[in-house]
Order: sequence, then C-alpha cells, then structure tokens
Amino acid sequence: MNPTLEAVALRTTFADAGGARIAALDRVDARFLPGQLSVIVGPSGSGKSTLLHALAGIVVPEEGRVLFGDDDLSALDEGRRDAWRLTHCGMVFQDFRLIDELDALANTLLPAQFTHLRMPAVLRQRAQSLLAEFGVPARSGPVARLSRGEQQRVALARALLLDPPVLLADEATASLDADNGQRIANALLAVARAGKTVIAVTHDDRVSALADQRLTLKTGRVVVPEEVQP
Ligand SMILES: Nc1ncnc2c1ncn2[C@@H]1O[C@H](COP(=O)(O)OP(=O)(O)OP(=O)(O)O)[C@@H](O)[C@H]1O
Ligand SMILES: [Mg+2]
Repeated sequence: MNPTLEAVALRTTFADAGGARIAALDRVDARFLPGQLSVIVGPSGSGKSTLLHALAGIVVPEEGRVLFGDDDLSALDEGRRDAWRLTHCGMVFQDFRLIDELDALANTLLPAQFTHLRMPAVLRQRAQSLLAEFGVPARSGPVARLSRGEQQRVALARALLLDPPVLLADEATASLDADNGQRIANALLAVARAGKTVIAVTHDDRVSALADQRLTLKTGRVVVPEEVQP
C-alpha cells in the first residue's frame, strides 16, 4: 500500500505588483489517502493550483512540510525533488504544458525520455493504450493542432504513463464535453481504486460526485474539510 500524502501547515507567499507578500497558501493542512479520489474546490485565486504544485514539489513552501510516508519533500534539494516527482507524481497542468510540435504519442512518452535511454516497447504500448482509452489518436500530427479537449486528454495520458503512485490533476475535465468529461472522471476514480492517491482540482460535478474527500480553499486557507457522504 502506498503511503499517505500529507501537507502540514503549508504556507506559500508571492510578491504582488507593489512588492507586498501575499499568502497563496496559509497554513494548509491536508491528508490524501491512497485508493481515494480527493477533490480540491474553491474560487479562482484561492490557491488550488499552488497547493497541487506544492504537493508535487514544484512550489517550495516557505513554511510547513509535504510528506509522503517517510519522504519529506521539503527537506530535499531541487534535484532530488525533481527525481522524486518523476517517479512518484503524474501531473496534469491547468495549462497542459505539452510540447506543441510533438504528436500525442511523443508527448505522452515524454516522462520516459528521462527514465529510459531507449524507449521500451511496453511503455510505447502503454502510451498507445492510454491514448486509445481516452479517445485520442496516437498519430494525429502536432498536438498544437488538436482541440483543447484532446490536448487535455494527452496531458492525462502523459501523467499516467509511468503509473505513478500520486496523480495530481488540475482541472483535468475543464475542456471536455459531457461524454469525454464523464469518461475522464471515471478514469480518475479507476486510478484511485487501483491504489493510487488521486487529487483533482475541479469545478466539475461529474468529478466531485465520485470523490471520497473534498477540500475547499478560500484565500489560501482550508475552509471545511468534508467527507463526502456515500
Ligand atoms: N507565480 C506566481 N506569482 C505571483 N503570484 C502568484 C503566482 N502563482 C499564483 N499566484 C497568486 O497566488 C494566488 C493563488 O493562485 P492559484 O493559481 O493557486 O489559484 P487557483 O485557485 O488555482 O485559481 P484558478 O481557479 O483561477 O486556477 C493568486 O492570488 C495568484 O495570483
Ligand atoms: Mg488554478
């Protein structure tokens, strides 16, 4: 069983235009269990993406810690955090962060470029089957020419390529129509039920309806951690 991912009293600030420090996260405590789908909701600017980035070790909190079992991300230097993220975290960024010139398959295979000198056939097959599962043609030309919804699904396939124990998805269904949105919501739940820790920032009722836990942020603070009733 994978360990619990935990945020302990996280505090992150950014400088505003006038140079004043604004707290994007203000003493955030949260626990995310393996096997569960957790959703993070809250108004625009409430710190949802910042929390996901802190959990992935992309944003380094000024105070507090991110723990994954015995791993204390906050104690790792940048290189070790990057290595940890590559092997532990799949991330669907709010703005996808695909490489425009590459096709869907090449984008999906990107994480493996860092872990394998030569691409194993099994990973290529996994990439193709993830894309097929999400309804994206593997060889469809540069992803820049795909629709936003298709790009979003490529980003999810890429996040899942290395079968990471933690999946962080920032608005992973925001660009999707009803059928595809439901398909991706179901896929997020299936990943959780396979024993992974899945955390989805979402405004989408299709995802929220499936969640085991909901965390609400408001101006960088956790409002009320609610257990979603079955
Ligand atoms: N790199 C940055 N530099 C300066 N301020 C930032 C930066 N990233 C985030 N912020 C600020 O931190 C706060 C939280 O931003 P964040 O992107 O986490 O919000 P969000 O809840 O994801 O919003 P949305 O729903 O619009 O995506 C906002 O006030 C934002 O302006
Ligand atoms: Mg955001």
